[in-house]
Amino acid sequence: ASNIPVRHYLQFADFSADEYAYLLERSAFLKAKFKRYETWHPLHDRTLAMIFEKNSTRTRLSFEAGIHQLGGHAVFLNTKDTQLGRGEPVEDAAQVISRMTDIIMIRTFGQDIIERFAANSRVPVINGLTNEYHPCQVLADIFTYVEHRSSIQGKTIAWVGDANNMAYTWIQAAEILDFKVNFSAPAGYQLDESMLSAGSKKYLSVFDNPLDACRGADLVTTDVWTSMGYEDENQARLKAFKSWMVTDELMSVANKDALFMHCLPAHRGEEVSASVIDGPQSVVWDEAENRLHVQKALMEFLLCGKL
Ligand code: CP
Ligand code: NVA
Repeated sequence: ASNIPVRHYLQFADFSADEYAYLLERSAFLKAKFKRYETWHPLHDRTLAMIFEKNSTRTRLSFEAGIHQLGGHAVFLNTKDTQLGRGEPVEDAAQVISRMTDIIMIRTFGQDIIERFAANSRVPVINGLTNEYHPCQVLADIFTYVEHRSSIQGKTIAWVGDANNMAYTWIQAAEILDFKVNFSAPAGYQLDESMLSAGSKKYLSVFDNPLDACRGADLVTTDVWTSMGYEDENQARLKAFKSWMVTDELMSVANKDALFMHCLPAHRGEEVSASVIDGPQSVVWDEAENRLHVQKALMEFLLCGKL
């Protein structure tokens, strides 16, 4: 067990601006080490449990490769093959899993589930995506922005599409790291006011027309119209979101050096045109790669503190 007090990463607001400054710098340091094939094993003999109640490619791979590269080991658990799928209470699962491992990542449905899990865990718990938030992805996205364009402070992010876990995480991040979010979604798919802190509203502007949201933006970003867990709504969403595709026209009103981001997986011809996601402003592969580097910094920080 670690001597560091147990802290969890359940939402972006769990860390301060200073801690993000450290994590971004540390991610760059660990990325450079990785590129040089340097061995770095601060988490030697540590075990990460990865619990997946929803599908994943990037999150699983980046956490599993990441803990291995830091000298530790990962155990993959999913709902189907564990007692979680047969109704074992999440509180009991947390007690048991956290007595045998050093750090836990969970991808699940409601944020309440991960909060109940963390409240019963002896070791740090990381949110690998819930219905409400996806903090590891936004951390990777901000690291990617900083790599390409330096600081994100004072910049404007345009969010075109669903009020989902990515959107709410960007809005939380804006308040902490001091940038603006322009949000545009169709009627009926607007942000839930109860999810917005009083402070974050100062960093948020809502637009009916996605073109207005993109005007002057430094980064245009979107995500699937139907997130995991909402598959029943897919047909209705395909119709409602039709005019919220990120196209060359939308990119043309953003700043000239604007980047395009998408957390992936993407649907070309739905939320983004092929010309944009496969075009010169797109940094989607860097975003995906950077999941590895930022999560290594995150796991190292949660288990070892600042090194
Ligand atoms: N972006 C992301 O979290 O991808 P996966 O669903 O593949 O993990
Ligand atoms: N908003 C998407 C992100 C997938 C990585 C979802 O929750 O399905």
